[in-house]
Amino acid sequence: MIIQSLKERYKDYFDVGGIVWPDAPKTHGELIKQHFSTLTCENMMKPEHLLPERGRFTFEEADKLLDYALQNGMKMRGHALVWHNQTPGWFFEGGRDAVLANLKEFIRTVVGRYKGKVFCWDALNEVLVDSSGGFLRKTPYLEIIGEEYIDIALQTAHDADPDALLFYNEYNECEPEKRDRIVTFVKGLKERGLPIHGIGMQAHWYNSNPDLDEIRAAIEQYAALGMIVHVTELELSVFDWEDHRTDLKEPLPGMLEKQAERYGEIFELFREYKDVVRCVTTWGVADDYTWLDDFPQKGRKNWPLLFDVNHRSKPALERVLGF
Ligand code: GLA
Repeated sequence: MIIQSLKERYKDYFDVGGIVWPDAPKTHGELIKQHFSTLTCENMMKPEHLLPERGRFTFEEADKLLDYALQNGMKMRGHALVWHNQTPGWFFEGGRDAVLANLKEFIRTVVGRYKGKVFCWDALNEVLVDSSGGFLRKTPYLEIIGEEYIDIALQTAHDADPDALLFYNEYNECEPEKRDRIVTFVKGLKERGLPIHGIGMQAHWYNSNPDLDEIRAAIEQYAALGMIVHVTELELSVFDWEDHRTDLKEPLPGMLEKQAERYGEIFELFREYKDVVRCVTTWGVADDYTWLDDFPQKGRKNWPLLFDVNHRSKPALERVLGF
């Protein structure tokens, strides 16, 4: 019999998930419940949503999405505690002591509230530079607090929920220079005795790249550090990064087949590393709702996920299920 549910098909391998946003249970609930064993809030657990103003936590939307996940037998990944984006400006006002206090209070309150319910956190998101100059990304956290913000964030999260797995989540995570930087960074965390359990490979990838060999090398190097890997934001853009064309209303012939082949190969690789790769999350559910419709080209339709705009399975889904 052909198994038509991702979570069923992958139950001996790893968790499979997608994102949720406030309307998603209504608009995408059928697919979510049929296919996913884990969810990530697209935005609702980010600082700008949980703590928009000083002293005013707003948990309603995050709570609802968490209840939805748990009531439907899914786990919730926490995303994201420390990030230079989607953190309100007031967080960084008032000097070093104030910023440090904001950081600690946010982490303590949020991780504490969801203790035992959110099974892991992207504690650090995108903290390293992309290009060859420098190491830690220049963010307000770094500039105001100094490098210690990293250690303090991890320790505070761990103290608030010692059982939650803590991740460092990053993009361009297979690009060799960045990968080596990630390895050096995580080695440093371990040498300093910090609580870090996994590396989040965001996996905002393309039909054309990265090469499978680069993906494999990244997984192997991260595993060699004793880390588990979560693939946290997987999608395959049908356009190359440099391709800004805006004329397509439908994918060109061949695009979805190429994407299917890539998805098939990528999931095969993940299965090979199932002891390391413990969770694979797509950054979306179906092609009718994807941030890539506005990035890197505003208003340009993209088709990066496993289900089409009408929530039907794509060739990619068939390749991912059909092994
Ligand atoms: C980063 C973040 C995600 C999301 C994407 C773009 O990868 O980690 O939360 O905002 O950018 O949508």
